[in-house]
Amino acid sequence: MTRLYLPLLRDPLVDPFARTIRYLRVSVTDRCNYRCSYCMPEALEDQMVFSPRSAVLTFEEIERVVTVFARLGVRKVRLTGGEPTIRKGIVDLVKKVANIGGIEQVVMTTNGHLLAELAQPLRDAGLSSINVSLDTLDAERFRRVTGRGDVTRVLAGIDAAVAAGLRVKTNAVAIEEINGDELAALCTDAWARGAEPRFIEHMPMSDGALYDAGRGISSAAIRRALEAAFGALVPAEAARDGGPARYWDVAGRRVGIISAMTEHFCDDCNRLRLTATGDLHACLGHDDATSLRDILRTGGSDDDLVRAISASVSGKRAGHVFAEKPPTKHMIGMGG
Ligand code: 5AD
Ligand code: SF4
Repeated sequence: MTRLYLPLLRDPLVDPFARTIRYLRVSVTDRCNYRCSYCMPEALEDQMVFSPRSAVLTFEEIERVVTVFARLGVRKVRLTGGEPTIRKGIVDLVKKVANIGGIEQVVMTTNGHLLAELAQPLRDAGLSSINVSLDTLDAERFRRVTGRGDVTRVLAGIDAAVAAGLRVKTNAVAIEEINGDELAALCTDAWARGAEPRFIEHMPMSDGALYDAGRGISSAAIRRALEAAFGALVPAEAARDGGPARYWDVAGRRVGIISAMTEHFCDDCNRLRLTATGDLHACLGHDDATSLRDILRTGGSDDDLVRAISASVSGKRAGHVFAEKPPTKHMIGMGG
């Protein structure tokens, strides 16, 4: 029997290291109502140029891009910012994205400032899970870290999200000066509210030198602090949930630790990031990007988008090199 060997086209969402992309993070605005010291510090205010509205993808453009990604195999979309809840119509956007065929999960990362009012509408629109940044429980410290935040509002937002039936995770960037003495308290508080606490190792962005957020705490030190407070940390049965966090069981509860720096997880990275202005970043830790907005706004076809996405994925790096060479880009534009 004669067999025809057709050239095998590479799956556009499998990168050169055999990692398959199933998860897209979409920043819907590069603006934020907070000014966290490690993300968008007040001191950087003069140097930051926020994108004019016309440069930001419209909901229709986001919908079109996500539809193409879904066709290629993306199943989960996280809406991020800046702060996603300050984008007008965010609830409608969640509904639009949740209705795209193939998208199984729409989730969000927020600072929680507007969450008390938005939790139920977001849930009704199809959001399944929300990550809320919460670095400290102390009102004074919280204001200092976030520049203008209000911890009472955020805690009310977390409670509203739990009540609305959202899965809720809290994110604390572990920094000695911010929460070095609160790691256990942050867990106890999150558990009591029905949320899952997580800690993130601080990543140097913005050239790593522009500002000083404080001394990052390593995940090994976080684990030691939690073990001292609660007893042994046991790797959870599903220690990974498709994201970078490793989950641990402790005293019958669960805690997640994202070792972005010391035990990094690039080997099974499954994500891409789209900025508010339509730049596709294959890796958080590198500055390379591909503009999908240019394709959208010059009459490009879906196939043109696929080609650009494919090129971006084929250029995905093996891993980040934060320690040696932090990216020049700012976290605020990347949504974490
Ligand atoms: N390092 C680690 N985490 C960060 N985040 C923002 N900036 C940094 C940084 N430099 C976190 C936020 C938010 C998540 C999306 O990313 O606290 O919870
Ligand atoms: Fe805003 Fe989140 Fe950045 Fe804080 S970490 S400045 S809340 S985008």
